[in-house]
Amino acid sequence: MRYITFALPKGRLADQTMKLMEEIGITCQEMKEEGTRRLIFVNEELKLKFFLAKATDVPTYVEYGAADLGVAGRDTILEAGRKLYEVLDLGMGRCRMCVCGPKGAAELLKHRELIRVATKYPNIAKEYFYNQKHQTVEIIKLNGSIELAPLVGLSEVIVDIVETGTTLRENGLDVLEEVCDLSARVVVNQVSMKMEYERINRILTGLRGLLTDGKH
Ligand code: PRP
Repeated sequence: MRYITFALPKGRLADQTMKLMEEIGITCQEMKEEGTRRLIFVNEELKLKFFLAKATDVPTYVEYGAADLGVAGRDTILEAGRKLYEVLDLGMGRCRMCVCGPKGAAELLKHRELIRVATKYPNIAKEYFYNQKHQTVEIIKLNGSIELAPLVGLSEVIVDIVETGTTLRENGLDVLEEVCDLSARVVVNQVSMKMEYERINRILTGLRGLLTDGKH
């Protein structure tokens, strides 16, 4: 029997995913070693393999079939634009992708002015402004601390993740428009879904059962 391979985003999301897996009887003892720097872990009995990747690379591993399944935030999945099946909402890390800025920028949005939009997610921003809103904007890619951009005059608005809203509040910015809801999702390689349907479906059914029992 061949291995079914999971790509997990290293960090908290990988830990939370493994906790769910354990509840459906999928364990990986090797992964529990404190302070290990290993990247690949195996459960020989179940013929499962888990590897830890950088979160934004998970869709790449899954599209190319280096992993059969993966866990990634919906922001990462949408931005990557890879050919994958998104099959399950794990409900972890719920937040929203929003257009934010100073209150005054609401007028610029309303009148579809040619504004500058700073974001870590240029593809999501393009899809939203060009295809959904039909508004021409200039998109400026940044790598972090996006809230800075309107404060220092780099852009009029930003497209960014809002979780508690604290970062916005503490910097005098507001949510102006909502782009979409986000949370951690399970993605599956399109060929694996056909070739290993039974084994993959058993895992997904287990997880789905857990998530609908109300305890998660
Ligand atoms: C994210 C996001 C916001 C903030 C939102 O940034 O880009 O800045 O969290 O959270 P809040 O609504 O609870 O304040 P992150 O901390 O991941 O770092 P980054 O700025 O480097 O992207």
